[in-house]
Amino acid sequence: MTGRNPQDAFSSQLGHRYKDVVLQGSARAHLGDAFYFDHYNSPLAGSQNPPASQFHNKYFVVPRHPSAVFTGREEILEQLRINCLPSKDPVSQRQPRIFVIHGLGGSGKTQVCLKFMQDHREKFWGVFWVDASSTENLERGFAQIATVCALEPDVDVVKRYLSNSTESWMLVLDSADNYLLNISSYLPVGNRGTVLITTRNPKCEIHATAGTYRLGKMTENEAVTLILRSTGVNNLADKSIRKNAKQVVSTLGSLALAIVQAGAVIREGLCKMEEYCTIYSRRRRELLSQKAVQDTGDYRHTVYTT
Ligand SMILES: Nc1ncnc2c1ncn2[C@@H]1O[C@H](COP(=O)(O)OP(=O)(O)OP(=O)(O)O)[C@@H](O)[C@H]1O
Ligand SMILES: [Mg+2]
Repeated sequence: MTGRNPQDAFSSQLGHRYKDVVLQGSARAHLGDAFYFDHYNSPLAGSQNPPASQFHNKYFVVPRHPSAVFTGREEILEQLRINCLPSKDPVSQRQPRIFVIHGLGGSGKTQVCLKFMQDHREKFWGVFWVDASSTENLERGFAQIATVCALEPDVDVVKRYLSNSTESWMLVLDSADNYLLNISSYLPVGNRGTVLITTRNPKCEIHATAGTYRLGKMTENEAVTLILRSTGVNNLADKSIRKNAKQVVSTLGSLALAIVQAGAVIREGLCKMEEYCTIYSRRRRELLSQKAVQDTGDYRHTVYTT
């Protein structure tokens, strides 16, 4: 008779349960690809939507909401509030505010932009999002803006429209990582706009007119709160729960993506918080290479590939 090693049991459970998690994740990822066109004048708007006159925001073209467990990042959010909200005196502004956020894959750049857009939506007439990872995606993104704004689907037409707008707008160029791609040809001009660029490439700072920020790891406190929220813990203040979580966080190193992945493993019952560090030290590669174990299912990489 062969006794079952707890590690084997974990491994087999991991294999089965991951299939479910990955399937759910990819289904969500698929939905996540669909852009969220939401403007109050839409003929599709439900009868419960308030009339457009109550709001400043007309266009809100973003791919998704921030994570339901979005946590922390107060410093960068404050920098964006200071540097990227519409000016009270746009005449004194000569060019769009361009703010560059750079940092490692999985550090949370995209999430910060989604959160900022959600929080400040009403301060902008237009809020637009374009995936800047390739020429094809850029053109697709500008074509989507053109569709929503009833324009000809052409990058230059959209740029001209924003450049000449007398209303405030914000455009996110997300994942401008490809250093061979000249992002400057996608930047509208004019004095009413804010452009947020996210990138893994620090050299993109060259485009900034309103500031730059290197997004690093989360603080220990943020990471502990995030892992607890990702695992579905309600009592975030419990000292012994936080102590266990702190060990996991210091083992993982506080990269946001790693934290939510660990949280998903624990939430799915594949191991307990207090077991995570031991299992991680033996099975790091296996744990980190699991695909799409995310709270939102919208992320393309695992920590291992990152
Ligand atoms: N502040 C946060 N609160 C909660 N979850 C977060 C936070 N930041 C990041 N995450 C989680 O980490 C994942 C990766 O974050 P995000 O996509 O923002 O990274 P990124 O820096 O844009 O990476 P890349 O360079 O690959 O585009 C998200 O899908 C989300 O689950
Ligand atoms: Mg990103």
